[in-house]
Amino acid sequence: MSYNIAIDGPAGAGKSTIARAVARKMNMICVDTGAMYRAMALFMLREKVDLSDGDAIGKKCADADISLGFEGGVQAVYLNGENVSACLRTEEVGNMASVISLQPAVRKKIVELQRAIAARSDCIMDGRDIGTCVLPDAQVKIYLTASSEVRAKRRFEELAAKGETCDPAKIKADIEERDYRDMHREHSPLRQAADAVMVDTSDMTIEEAVERISDICKIN
Ligand code: DC
Repeated sequence: MSYNIAIDGPAGAGKSTIARAVARKMNMICVDTGAMYRAMALFMLREKVDLSDGDAIGKKCADADISLGFEGGVQAVYLNGENVSACLRTEEVGNMASVISLQPAVRKKIVELQRAIAARSDCIMDGRDIGTCVLPDAQVKIYLTASSEVRAKRRFEELAAKGETCDPAKIKADIEERDYRDMHREHSPLRQAADAVMVDTSDMTIEEAVERISDICKIN
C-alpha cells in the first residue's frame, strides 16, 4: 500500500510551496491537484465554453485528456498531449478553475486520475477535498490555512515580484470570493477533515511550516 499525505486548505495558504518542500525532504512525489482543475479551466477557456452553463462544462470535459508527468519530482501537466504547466498560474485561470470545479462530471474525471496516482505512488497531494473525499484513508492529513489578509498580501507580493500590476483590494476580494465558492459548493466543498491536523501559517515562514508538517508526519 502506498503512503499518502493529504494537504487541504484555501487559496494562498502556501499549500503547493510547502507540499513541494516536504515532498523533497521525504523523497516523495508531490501532486498539485489545483493544477489539474486549472488545466481543465484552460481547456474550457480555449474552447470558449460558456462558463455560466454548467451542463455545457460537464459535457465538454469528456474531450479534455489531462495527465501528469514527474520529471525530477517536478510535476508537469499535459492537456491533450500538450505540456500546459506554464499557462496555469494566471488569476483568470485560477478563478475559472474554481468555477468549473463546481461541476460533478469535472470532479469525477479528475478525482479518478488522482486516486490512480496515489494508489501507485507514495505522494503528498494538495488540494481542497483530498482528506475528505479523494483519499479518506491517507496516513496523514493536514489542513493548512492562513488569514485572508495574509494570503492576499502574499499573492500581491508574488505578482509584484513578477512585475505584474495589481490592486491589493481586488486580490483580497477575489480570494474571499474563491474561498466562499470552494467552501459552499454542493460537491466536495473545502473543509477540514475530522482527522486532519490544522496548521495556521499566518505567522509562520515557509521553513517553519515545512518543519511543523514534517514533525506531524513523523508522529503519525
Ligand atoms: O489550489 P489552486 O488555487 O490551484 O486551485 C484552483 C481551483 O481548483 C480552486 O479554487 C478550486 C479547485 N480545486 C478543487 O476544487 N479541488 C481541488 N482538490 C483542488 C482545486
